[in-house]
Amino acid sequence: MENIKLNIEKAFSFVSKESVYAYEPKVRACMEMLHKGTGKGNDFLGWLNLPSSTTEEFMNEIIAVANDLRSRCEVVVVAGIGGSYLGARAVIDALANSFSWLQPSKNPVIVYAGNNIGEDYLAELTAYLKGKQFGIINISKSGTTTETALAFRILKTQLEEQVGKEEAQKRIVAVTDAAKGALRTLATQEGYKTFVIPDNVGGRFSVLTPVGLLPIAVAGFDIKKLIAGAQKMESVCGEGTAFTENPAAVYAAVRNELYAKGKKIEILVNYNPKLHYIGEWWKQLYGESEGKDLKGIFPAAVDFSTDLHSMGQWIQEGERTIFETVISIKTPNLKMEVPLDKDNLDGLNFLAGKRVDEVNKMAELGTQIAHVDGQVPNLHIEMPLLNEYYIGQLFYFFEKACGISGYLLGVNPFDQPGVEAYKKNMFALLEKPGYEKETEAIKARL
Ligand code: PA5
Repeated sequence: MENIKLNIEKAFSFVSKESVYAYEPKVRACMEMLHKGTGKGNDFLGWLNLPSSTTEEFMNEIIAVANDLRSRCEVVVVAGIGGSYLGARAVIDALANSFSWLQPSKNPVIVYAGNNIGEDYLAELTAYLKGKQFGIINISKSGTTTETALAFRILKTQLEEQVGKEEAQKRIVAVTDAAKGALRTLATQEGYKTFVIPDNVGGRFSVLTPVGLLPIAVAGFDIKKLIAGAQKMESVCGEGTAFTENPAAVYAAVRNELYAKGKKIEILVNYNPKLHYIGEWWKQLYGESEGKDLKGIFPAAVDFSTDLHSMGQWIQEGERTIFETVISIKTPNLKMEVPLDKDNLDGLNFLAGKRVDEVNKMAELGTQIAHVDGQVPNLHIEMPLLNEYYIGQLFYFFEKACGISGYLLGVNPFDQPGVEAYKKNMFALLEKPGYEKETEAIKARL
């Protein structure tokens, strides 16, 4: 079976091959820090061997709980924010039919909550759920995240009103810390089925724990294939692989070299709208891992060719501080040809008989040439197919590269102290008990 492939040739008009390959000893040292647990944030390295340590038995347990929810619910709300929802959403959006919610399906509709504090959003969601057979997967490692807890309080109340406390208890699953946090206390008290987020796996590295696996299984996708793909990459990106054959090592090296040469922004590009949330997941992974100590590549994501008609101008001719990493799917899952039209009023008969993907691939190639000409180095990741197996490979590849890349940059890739600043102010402004001093201080500034 093929693997995802990284090609960095189109970065060499901007940084030399030698300068990238010169990173090898530094990359080796960073990998050793990861594998020996001697680097910063070493109490959060549980993700490193997660694929190979996930047992068949554990996956079966997740699938059994997922099947029970599937049998009870036509809609399942996944409540979580950041690392507690982006990975699941990335897989579900990538693999689900783009119009699945508009047509009958054997799979429950998956909707999301707890990732914003929009009153309109929550009001519309609760209106949609009225009279529907729904369930909730509530995901929060800390168990105290305001966005998620607030949405869960509203949804739990509605569910209990609609189906009674006893049935609601069967339709709520909590994924949280083994012992700490309000969600753990609540789940124990209410008797919910729970899954544990391991202590040593941070939110943005948690997609291959029940955080991602449970919603993905509920949505009807094969978590065993996802884990199998990740397992494959765990071995490909392991210490036994030569530097040039290890895509995580090479990606970490080239992006750090580009950064050192002034490329401060990386855009993750896709040519398939189904990958939009892979971009969102990736932004969190790299943004939270590297953006600290006044350093770090700014991670952005775009959907092409859609965004070529909006961001394309900036990318082609704006400040030359950008490089791009393209995820390209080699073969689409479905087939669609451009029809011949006898009148050819739209002038498109030159495309007749071609697959739509051929047009897409030429858009991709044309863009690559234009961007490289415009001083935008291009890194290319080819996925043979869009399925669970290759998404599993992609996840692990990006996670491993992120750990190496963060160490190359000299930061702790596994903490996120900056995320707390807004929370402290919000709690002070909302006069949360325990924040009296902060409330007084912040009010004096208003
Ligand atoms: O990566 C992280 O740690 C964060 O983005 C968290 O995933 C996010 O803040 C949600 O936290 P929690 O799972 O504790 O609700």
